Amino acid sequence: MDSDAALQIRLAGQVGPTGRPLPDFPEPQPLTSHGPARIIAMCNQKGGVGKTTTTINLGAALAEVGRRVLLVDFDPQGALSVGLGIPAHELDVTIYNLLTERGHDVREVIRRTKVEGLDIIPANIDLSAAEVQLVGEVAREQILARVLRPVVDDYDVVLIDCQPSLGLLTVNALTAAHGVIIPLECEFFAMRGVALLVETIEKITDRLNPRLQVDGILATMYDGRTLHSREVVASVVEHFGDDVFHTVISRTVKFPDASLAAEPLTTYDASHKGADAYRQLARELIARGGAA
Ligand SMILES: Nc1ncnc2c1ncn2[C@@H]1O[C@H](COP(=O)(O)OP(=O)(O)O)[C@@H](O)[C@H]1O
Ligand SMILES: [Mg+2]
Repeated sequence: MDSDAALQIRLAGQVGPTGRPLPDFPEPQPLTSHGPARIIAMCNQKGGVGKTTTTINLGAALAEVGRRVLLVDFDPQGALSVGLGIPAHELDVTIYNLLTERGHDVREVIRRTKVEGLDIIPANIDLSAAEVQLVGEVAREQILARVLRPVVDDYDVVLIDCQPSLGLLTVNALTAAHGVIIPLECEFFAMRGVALLVETIEKITDRLNPRLQVDGILATMYDGRTLHSREVVASVVEHFGDDVFHTVISRTVKFPDASLAAEPLTTYDASHKGADAYRQLARELIARGGAA
């Protein structure tokens, strides 16, 4: 048994950081076949809450347990691409071209990363023009869903790293998705804006994508030593109940360190507790049915 699994058994049943007893998240079963993917949008219109970090590390943790994972960089800042060592600013063809031009093959835009089983569709600043360009298109909310369709059967999970806005790109992500994960930073005003996000999700469920579900709210940048962090998590649980993941991501400088090294923390410092937290999140997501 690996140390992570041992820790899991030791912790199962104890009250976790969200104030609820920690369930046991079983070791994910190996998959004998792959696809079709479950598509998950990583969404919060606030910046700096851990969307990109969660996309990278949850993706890497799912790949570690044999899932085929495609990450979609859907933020013109390109932090997801750069954080995985893809020189996105040098690329001629990115998600932008797939969205705005006909005749591209999505498979030619997908890049492998250094993590086995983890692929990415990169983005760069070109994507900032897409929002304006797509406004006049027919079925403008469904363009990303159409772009992804040819490769959905090749992957088990697709994670879309959204930009910090509720504009047309994010609407495209939510329209393409089966689920949405909402990272919330454990800070004052963490919940500010979340009502608007939930309202947007409900509108999209009503009008464009009835299958869309909230897969979970993820507390990030948690510092268990401070009353403040614990209070924020308690209020988030009070508000969202079982939609809140039991897994909580602690604040550690190792995350920005790993990003600078252009790697997930799960490979940069594989035994770090931050890496283990994302492995636990992967198990929790699978246990909840949020991924195969
Ligand atoms: N758990 C964490 N602890 C400490 N720093 C973090 C953590 N998660 C993310 N960060 C850092 O915070 C900044 C914002 O995170 P990021 O994932 O880019 O957020 P978003 O994509 O929502 O804007 C980045 O510098 C990132 O490295
Ligand atoms: Mg980001």
